[in-house]
Amino acid sequence: MAPAKSETLLQINDLDVTFEQSRGDLQIETAHALRGIDLTLGRGEVHSLVGESGSGKTITSTCVIGLLPMPPGKINHGQLLFKGRDLLKLSEAERRKVRGREIAMIFQEPAKYLNPALKVGEQITEMVILHLGMDKIKAGERALDLLEVVGLERSKRILKSYAHELSGGMKQRVMIAMAISCNPLLLIADEPTTALDVTLQLQILKLILKLKNQLSMSVLFISHDLGVVYNISDRISVIYAGKIVESGSREDVFSKPLHPYTRLLFLSIPEAGKGGSRLRAIPGSVPDAEHIPSGCAFHPRCPIAEDICRTEIPRSRNNGQGGAHHTAACHLIGKKWPD
Ligand SMILES: Nc1ncnc2c1ncn2[C@@H]1O[C@H](COP(=O)(O)OP(=O)(O)OP(=O)(O)O)[C@@H](O)[C@H]1O
Ligand SMILES: [Mg+2]
Repeated sequence: MAPAKSETLLQINDLDVTFEQSRGDLQIETAHALRGIDLTLGRGEVHSLVGESGSGKTITSTCVIGLLPMPPGKINHGQLLFKGRDLLKLSEAERRKVRGREIAMIFQEPAKYLNPALKVGEQITEMVILHLGMDKIKAGERALDLLEVVGLERSKRILKSYAHELSGGMKQRVMIAMAISCNPLLLIADEPTTALDVTLQLQILKLILKLKNQLSMSVLFISHDLGVVYNISDRISVIYAGKIVESGSREDVFSKPLHPYTRLLFLSIPEAGKGGSRLRAIPGSVPDAEHIPSGCAFHPRCPIAEDICRTEIPRSRNNGQGGAHHTAACHLIGKKWPD
């Protein structure tokens, strides 16, 4: 029986983003960073976004959190339905209320995110004063509680520190404390552990999962590490050149990938899920966002491409080959793979 689909928290429909850059000779070049992203995130679900560098993972999450620099970025069309409400239709003031309060984000480099000029305690209390309307004393208590929640000492000394005075792992935990300070419904984690050593990576991932369960958050998770993705995800979407090419449950995507790109990324991993498997290198490279190939953008690297792949953009479909809610944008789902 198909698993019950959880209630939708975030639904991204046909999100299309370009960047316009001047090339110096008065010519404007357009980079098509997102070409109609569709993604559905259920309540309480961890949904991972996987794809090679430059495929549009960070731009997708930046749009959701509402921090896409515009210009040079431009959202041409699409919807970001959060609890059924289109975030793209909100005013900047309304957007600010959602950001931090209902949708929070953690990054690979906490040092870039934490304000170097403010003590970390001030940064945490600022969030809860702004979003939860707490007074200074209550906010200070909340900041101490949050340190404990993220596995740090309940220490005023930490709150009085500046980011540069903390170790990498502590900075990461402080950033997570800020992100969860207002009990967000959605946590976006963009490669949150890539910069950490392996032991710390594991601790931070366990912390994210524990908090997800404790706070009933949904997580949009971005990582290059397929071992981590396997361990943490309920669903996986694979992104290529600004388009989702496959989406499905973790089991379906890992064990029965439908799209040739996913197959090449996943199939040769000796023991997926046993940790430490980086994305495999596929011959060729991701196309520039300025020069996306015609038809299926993956066709120049695809071992089974046919004429139709060069001319027609494939629509996302299931073709009876995948499990429930398992789809891929490929003309040739089910075609025999070359030996
Ligand atoms: N400020 C910008 N100006 C022009 N193009 C941009 C800008 N930011 C991103 N892009 C383009 O958008 C595309 C998607 O970038 P994005 O940062 O989302 O990739 P990513 O999947 O997060 O990669 P990585 O794994 O390296 O973090 C890239 O092709 C990039 O060149
Ligand atoms: Mg990125």
